[in-house]
Amino acid sequence: MKVAPSLLSCNFAEIGNEIIRVDKAGADLIHLDVMDGHFVPNLTIGPGIIKAVRSYTKLPFDVHLMIDYPLDYIEAFADAGADIITFHLEAKSDPIATIEKIRSLGIKPGVVIKPGTPAQAVFPYLDKVYMVLVMTVEPGFGGQAFMEDMMPKITQIKNEIKSRGLDVLVEADGGISEKTAAQASRAGTDICVSGTGVFKAADTALAIKALKEA
Ligand code: DX5
Ligand code: ZN
Repeated sequence: MKVAPSLLSCNFAEIGNEIIRVDKAGADLIHLDVMDGHFVPNLTIGPGIIKAVRSYTKLPFDVHLMIDYPLDYIEAFADAGADIITFHLEAKSDPIATIEKIRSLGIKPGVVIKPGTPAQAVFPYLDKVYMVLVMTVEPGFGGQAFMEDMMPKITQIKNEIKSRGLDVLVEADGGISEKTAAQASRAGTDICVSGTGVFKAADTALAIKALKEA
């Protein structure tokens, strides 16, 4: 699997240096969690911070929007330097309009589903997206327990992608560490997001290597 460390668990006073740290340790992408206090009961960073730290790495910025109205903010995140923008199908913007807006700005679109949303919810968008992100915790906070009952959903989505001959990546997010990564990988995950599993590890490079090889 490719590894996308989630900055949610980094030292926010050193966010630029934390990006450099995981880049040097072998990260494939940088995962940035945007929360609005409405879609999820937490607040994090917005486009201003993302733009400020964009120059610290050449790795792709994988921006995960946990906000009620993603469509209203796509331009701001494009301007901030996002390479991939994922938004929740449970949010209030029209998914097709949001995907088209992301593509029109030269960015790769992805759809995200919460644990309670079935695999079939993403099927209408599979031919229009670069990535599907499956939450393996309830979105909102880092450090939660991995929901292994999401594995069949990942496999179902992966199989649908294959059966249609599409080239869409499946990303899993939440509770992924050395202990749970193998399950995610076996289920068909292409990219794993890991916050505490990477940033709180004793050895960052070893932690990333373990996730890659899981
Ligand atoms: C949760 C976020 C995740 C979070 C993962 O809503 O989407 O990206 O940072 O953190 P861990 O890996 O600690 O579960
Ligand atoms: Zn995330």
